[in-house]
Amino acid sequence: MSEALPASVAAVAAGLRSAGYLPGESTALVSFLAARLGKPILVEGPAGVGKTELAKAMARTLDRPLVRLQCYEGLDEAKALYEWNYRRQLLRIQAEAAGTGWDAVQDDIFGEEFLLARPLMTAIASEEPVVLLVDEIDKTDQEFEAMLLELLSDFQISIPELGRIEARTQPVVLLTSNNSRELTEALKRRCLYLWLDYPELEHELEIVRLHAPDLSEALGRRLVEIVHQIRELDLKKPPSIAESIDWARALLLLGADDIDADTFRETMSIIVKHRTDLDTVAARVGVQLGHGDALPSP
Ligand SMILES: Nc1ncnc2c1ncn2[C@@H]1O[C@H](COP(=O)(O)OP(=O)(O)O)[C@@H](O)[C@H]1O
Ligand SMILES: [Mg+2]
Repeated sequence: MSEALPASVAAVAAGLRSAGYLPGESTALVSFLAARLGKPILVEGPAGVGKTELAKAMARTLDRPLVRLQCYEGLDEAKALYEWNYRRQLLRIQAEAAGTGWDAVQDDIFGEEFLLARPLMTAIASEEPVVLLVDEIDKTDQEFEAMLLELLSDFQISIPELGRIEARTQPVVLLTSNNSRELTEALKRRCLYLWLDYPELEHELEIVRLHAPDLSEALGRRLVEIVHQIRELDLKKPPSIAESIDWARALLLLGADDIDADTFRETMSIIVKHRTDLDTVAARVGVQLGHGDALPSP
C-alpha cells in the first residue's frame, strides 16, 4: 500500500492484518477515516489492548517511518519539540577568533546545525510522510496538551531565532491514553476517537494464535475462556491481551497440553500480578478448575 493512502476500510483492515495486527471493526473504520481526513486518532483504553501496536502497524502498512514520542510526567517542549545544543554552541563560541562581532557569532550558533530536533519537530520537518505516535499522552499535564493541540492544528513550529518550520507532508498522527486522567475537550474535539477494549473471545483467540502460532486451537480456546472469566472478576488489574500472549507462550514452553488445576496454579502469576488479585483468582477460578468443572460457555 506504500505511499498512497488506503482506498477503503477493507483495504485498511487487510493492510493492518498483513502488518501483523488484527483490527476490530471500529479500529479499521477509524484508521481509514483518520488517514483520509488527515485527522489525528485518539486511542483510549486499558493497558495492553493494542494501542501502541496499532500505531506501529499503521506505519508498517503505510510504509512510513514511525516517529514516537513517549510521554511521561514533566515532559516539556525541550524534550518533545526541540532544544538548542548548548554544548556545541559554547564550543563554537570558544573556537571563534577573538574580535569576531557578537552579531556574526549569533547568526552562526542559531543555525539548524545547532538544533536538536525532538520527535514532534522530526515529524513536522520530515521530507517523507511519517506516522507520529504520541504515546500515553495522559501522563503529561494540560499545558503540554495545549502546546500539542496547537501543533496538531497548524502543523508548524515557530523557532524565535530561526523562523517557522512548516510541515512539508501530512503525518498520520495517533495519540494513546491509558485513561489515567480525563483529557481536555479541546484535544478530543481535534481528534477522531477510538476506544479499544478487551476483545471478544474469538478475536482474542485469533490474536493469541497469531503471536503463538504453535498453540493448538483447543488449548488456545481454553486459555482465552479462562482469561475472559478472570476479567469478569473484580480485580485491580484484569489480564490484558499482552498477558494472554505471554501465558500462551509460557504454556507452550512448558509443554502443557491442557490447563488443569496444577498448571493453572503454577502459571497464573503470568496473567495476574497483584497479591490480592492472585487470592481472588485462586479462590474463584483455581478452585473451579480443581473440581474439573466445565467452564461456563461465553
Ligand atoms: N489487534 C491486535 N493484533 C495483533 N496483536 C495485538 C493486537 N492487540 C494487541 N496485540 C498485542 O498485544 C500486546 C500489547 O499491545 P500494546 O500495543 O503494547 O498495548 P497498549 O499500548 O494498549 O498497552 C502487543 O504484543 C501487541 O502486539
Ligand atoms: Mg502502549
